[in-house]
Amino acid sequence: MGNGDVSHFADRTRTEFGEIDPFSAIIRTTQLPMIVTDPRRHDNPIVFANPAFLRMTGYERFEVTGRNCRFLQGPDTCPKAVARVREAIRAERAVEIDLLNYRKDGTTFYNALHLNPVHAKTGELQFFFAAQLDVTERYRLVRERETANAALREALAVKTTLIHEIDHRVKNNLQMIAAMIVLQSQRIADPATRASMMDTLQRVEALSTVHRRLHQSESVSRYDVADFVRDLIGDLVGASGRDDIAVRLDLVAVVIPAEKSVALALLLNEIVTNILKHAFAGDRPGTIAIRIARDDEIRIVVEDDGVGMPEDGAAKDSFGQSLMRTLARQLGARLAVERASNSGTRVILTMPAEASTTVSVRSP
Ligand SMILES: Nc1ncnc2c1ncn2[C@@H]1O[C@H](COP(=O)(O)OP(=O)(O)OP(=O)(O)O)[C@@H](O)[C@H]1O
Ligand SMILES: [Mg+2]
Repeated sequence: MGNGDVSHFADRTRTEFGEIDPFSAIIRTTQLPMIVTDPRRHDNPIVFANPAFLRMTGYERFEVTGRNCRFLQGPDTCPKAVARVREAIRAERAVEIDLLNYRKDGTTFYNALHLNPVHAKTGELQFFFAAQLDVTERYRLVRERETANAALREALAVKTTLIHEIDHRVKNNLQMIAAMIVLQSQRIADPATRASMMDTLQRVEALSTVHRRLHQSESVSRYDVADFVRDLIGDLVGASGRDDIAVRLDLVAVVIPAEKSVALALLLNEIVTNILKHAFAGDRPGTIAIRIARDDEIRIVVEDDGVGMPEDGAAKDSFGQSLMRTLARQLGARLAVERASNSGTRVILTMPAEASTTVSVRSP
């Protein structure tokens, strides 16, 4: 609406309403608190306050007229916010700001202030018009949400500590089981039974490694496969006492849900144990290469340059085979075993990525 439209509207309503000025009627009846101040008078006093403003602040009209607005401020009003208002007034600029104000009875409220200078056609400053709104409820809701969030964060921290403690205890119990297996196996004379107990020992130790990692990980619900691979390969090759087996890792950090960590760890344990047991049997030296990649799926490739799979393939009825099949099914993973170019064996594990996330970190 241009100025001409406004004066036309004013003329028309004056004819309809007689002497009642429609604009002042609106300002008097609106729920929006408004004041006008006169910067040409000493200390920029209020020259008009509408009833909504008086209701919001609890003052009578005669108590506010002729006074500078600063009587609304109190000890907890932010001095920086007040300075911004003062600066806007000095520069004859508009400002929008929330201020903590005080009512006549001393109670506080948050005031969303919209202050505008009004200039005459000549450019000279005439007065300031300020519309305001009590936004205390909004601040209360924000504070409530912050308190609720802090309580949730604390509850989550307690839960995380508890789960970490449980992982720690599970790891300790698994180490105790491992120690018992070692002691018991020392009393077994039959080499085959003893070797089979040693396999069980390694599986228990792989579980213990998972729980050590879960205990150390920041998140209790996510699990980094790359970290586990580093630990596992270090543990297994270290325990084999072989210094003629090199390890090459090309790992991208892939995070999977913690509940899948045990199955994946056991599966990787079987693959790596097979390499140590079969590919580099005797004193055959070699290299184990493990690569983790992720696109639509997670791909874990474990390759050795050992003796290669026997011509007739892996025995289908071994415990290792059936364990690997069960674990792969649990993970929804596919397992492929192929001959590697260097005459060794390549095992490719492909599993759905789900909501796992990748961080581009390459390990040496
Ligand atoms: N990386 C490998 N290199 C060479 N041969 C392998 C490799 N992995 C597996 N094999 C062969 O496949 C066979 C089957 O492996 P599998 O893990 O099923 O049984 P296992 O290791 O012999 O016994 P276990 O039940 O203790 O695992 C092995 O006996 C071995 O001949
Ligand atoms: Mg095996």
